[in-house]
Amino acid sequence: MIIQPRVRGFICLTSHPEGTAAHVKQQIDYVKSKGEIKNGPKKVLVIGASTGFGLASRISAAFGSEAATIGVFFEKPAAPGKPGTAGWYNSAAFEKQAQEAGLYAKSINGDAFSDEVKKQTIALIKEDLGQVDLVVYSLASPRRTHPKTGVAHASVLKPIGQAFTNKTVDFHAGVVSDISIQPVENEEDINNTVAVMGGEDWKFWIEALKEAGVLAEGVKTVAYSYIGPELTYPIYRNGTIGKAKDDLEATVPVLNDLLADLNGVSYVSVNKALVTQSSSAIPVVPLYISLLYKVMKAKGIHEGTIEQMQRLFAERLYNDVTPALDEKGRIRVDDLEMREDVQAEVAQLWEEATTENLEEISDIAGYRNDFFNLFGFNIDQIDYEAETNEVVNVPSIQ
Ligand code: NAI
Ligand code: NA
Repeated sequence: MIIQPRVRGFICLTSHPEGTAAHVKQQIDYVKSKGEIKNGPKKVLVIGASTGFGLASRISAAFGSEAATIGVFFEKPAAPGKPGTAGWYNSAAFEKQAQEAGLYAKSINGDAFSDEVKKQTIALIKEDLGQVDLVVYSLASPRRTHPKTGVAHASVLKPIGQAFTNKTVDFHAGVVSDISIQPVENEEDINNTVAVMGGEDWKFWIEALKEAGVLAEGVKTVAYSYIGPELTYPIYRNGTIGKAKDDLEATVPVLNDLLADLNGVSYVSVNKALVTQSSSAIPVVPLYISLLYKVMKAKGIHEGTIEQMQRLFAERLYNDVTPALDEKGRIRVDDLEMREDVQAEVAQLWEEATTENLEEISDIAGYRNDFFNLFGFNIDQIDYEAETNEVVNVPSIQ
């Protein structure tokens, strides 16, 4: 079929198999160009491995230190006449290229929050790898069915305490407007968001993996967090999602205790704001990202997801480095985003941003391009008028 973008609000309903494969290849080539990551991970489990930071982590491990990888994700395969999801095609492309490079790569498609998928993953590790020495936890989801209570929790993106009014952008139309977001009405919204995006499921994974004996001596585990600028605090760090991130970060000492007898260690890495399927759903944030991109590109310090994860692996987690931690015990690869000169310039541009000057003062074009790239569109060498085979298999899917 001929596959072109079909956009609804902040999501794209279609994905292009050859375009996503080319996008994955670009990321692989980037990691290879950076050279070997010394004493890097060898057997890796990535939970949330099909898109965004999780996919970039998987690529960094596989092509940076020849790691065997098992990826867990929740994606939809194609049916004849209906394209699969971007994460499905990404995983197909990743596995194909990993296997061509002689690297072990298998994937599990299912609900990572469930006990079932945890059991399945453990069985696969036991069968094929014995143990893993790195567990990356990179889930982003709007909902979680709790495996013990059966309760279906839905997360919300809301401020806490008072309404929040600020600028936002419709990045497709390029229209800047004010948005007012009402605060949570009760603790319920906060608790639900923490249940979905907090640290409990990360802990359940590590407990289950440990109990099964599939964590290697010296194992590392890392999950991803975000802080960002003050202007997004009400909707992000001080909002419902921020409470979930607080909970995720508070899980680190719990996991460190759990891993102590294996000489294992857990980290939260605070990453840069980037265009992913998850971040494009957050109000206000896309305008901030488009201004941030402009400033960071002008300074020559812009990074995408793959640059961020390659740097995390090469300069924080491996290469015989002991990572510097901030006052709350977190790794910071948002260091360039949070640089004072960067933040001062973004804050100035934020004041100025209007629909009329948006194309000029922001990198909204770069934002849009990154957004379409997530779904395999706007990739130079792909002919989007041409027929493509929408049905693509992930070689080793379970
Ligand atoms: P993403 O939407 O690109 O990736 C989410 C991944 O989770 C996908 O692989 C998806 O298949 C998987 N997933 C979702 N629900 C699942 C389920 N029930 N079972 C199995 N897999 C499931 O998101 P992104 O942006 O890469 O986020 C990953 C982490 O990074 C999140 O914790 C996010 O908060 C954090 N982060 C994101 C930043 C950003 O700007 N995008 C900045 C800093 C941190
Ligand atoms: Na991810």
